[in-house]
Amino acid sequence: MKIKSLLKTSATGQQVTVKGWVRTFRANRFIALNDGSTLGNLQCVVDFESMDEALLKSINTGAAVKITGNYIESQGKGQSYEIQVTDLHVYGEADPESYPIQPKKHSLEFLREKAHLRVRTATFSAVMRVRSALAFGVHQFFRNEGFQYVNTPIVTGSDAEGAGEMFRVSALDLKNTPLTEEGSVDFSKDFFGKETHLTVSGQLEAETYAMGLGEVYTFGPTFRAENSNTTRHLAEFWMIEPEMAFFDLNDNMDLAEKFIKNVLVYILKECEEDLMFLDNRLKQEDKSKPQAERSPMGLLEKIKFVVENEFKRVSYTEAIDVLRNSKPNKKKKFKFNIDQWGADLQSEHERFLVEKHFKCPVILYDYPATIKAFYMRMNQDQKTVRAMDILFPGIGEIVGGSQREERLEVLQERIKAMGIDEEELWWYLDLRRFGSAPHSGFGLGFERLVLFATGMSNIRDVIPFPRTPQNAAF
Ligand code: 4AD
Ligand code: MG
Repeated sequence: MKIKSLLKTSATGQQVTVKGWVRTFRANRFIALNDGSTLGNLQCVVDFESMDEALLKSINTGAAVKITGNYIESQGKGQSYEIQVTDLHVYGEADPESYPIQPKKHSLEFLREKAHLRVRTATFSAVMRVRSALAFGVHQFFRNEGFQYVNTPIVTGSDAEGAGEMFRVSALDLKNTPLTEEGSVDFSKDFFGKETHLTVSGQLEAETYAMGLGEVYTFGPTFRAENSNTTRHLAEFWMIEPEMAFFDLNDNMDLAEKFIKNVLVYILKECEEDLMFLDNRLKQEDKSKPQAERSPMGLLEKIKFVVENEFKRVSYTEAIDVLRNSKPNKKKKFKFNIDQWGADLQSEHERFLVEKHFKCPVILYDYPATIKAFYMRMNQDQKTVRAMDILFPGIGEIVGGSQREERLEVLQERIKAMGIDEEELWWYLDLRRFGSAPHSGFGLGFERLVLFATGMSNIRDVIPFPRTPQNAAF
């Protein structure tokens, strides 16, 4: 039986078998067993006097075991139920001298280096169960809304998206690369007969499917070769990208807000125990921090706040006014001072707006065309585009999206102005040639959502094996 279901069953002395890993073994008598199904450990009581000594010795923290016994109401304090062990089998021992995950507090940095074993801690198992539930919540939400799930390519032949630096995909021999007559690398000799990269976003391909299936979403890995060594950036991350025919920017913002609230409600219900544990963990962490750095709200409080309150919708122009007149700007406390309209917002500005000024999630919209991608729909002012970013407390940007430019000539002009090769986007432009229609979409960074939902502070701790500059271990 899984410990999760066992703990929900009443104990009448029935015989049960459980399998898992020993978290602790106390006094040669009490095994705290965890099988990953739930946060809680199951206490298993062995009768050491009747047990073979070698077997007893092999029950160490980290060992994989099978335990059979009678499930009874616990005689001791601290747990309601326990197993009186009648039979115990050790599948694999864990040498206490070298097994790194000992029953004591390990730092997150230390555990990052043991990423293959860290899921055997309470914190990481809780984070990963919440991550898994969130992924399911995402699929459930879109299915209920009538969306189709599409898989866009990971290896892409188009590098026009402009969302970030790309990783090259090649099967060429690096020591002996074929060259053209001009001396540059001859990609016609490469596997795909052309230059290819790992995708930075599935959006452009998702748009083609929205213009046939109506409402679609992707949920897949995306890659960015930026040298951003921050607690919010990964070189490989998972993105959810819905794309909807006949949606304008307001419909897009409504959907994004409903979507985020919906998946958070889902985990509040599904992951109560894990979230309570993570909430408590955050409170403990906070105790060791100076007052100014402590979170103003507990984790559960923060999630409920987002679920229960409307996101504040603010135009870029309004936001610039707020920032310009803000204390940190006047006192030159920002690294990048905001002095004129058109400035790109840095995460310090986004966090000021969300955490200090509006004190709630904010949707910023209608950004200057000059700082946004070519595909965003031009407004009548000819200066701003129908873009929207959702900014979250403690996270910064969690969603980026827009209404797409559906007018062929306008799109061609923007492509030209941005120096992009139109030829490369022939298929994307075809969507505007044949049955074009208003449409919109957005991308949500899945790990940033998991960060928010778990109260963890480093994005490296919410994905099993993080890829960041100078690090692709495991
Ligand atoms: O704002 P971005 O770059 O938007 C796009 O890629 C659009 N094509 C999406 C669309 O409209 N379909 O990225 C979207 C989101 C960001 O808001 C952020 O949450 C996340 O992806 N993100 C990252 N997450 C982790 N590490 C990184 N390096 C990220 N870059 C973006
Ligand atoms: Mg963005």
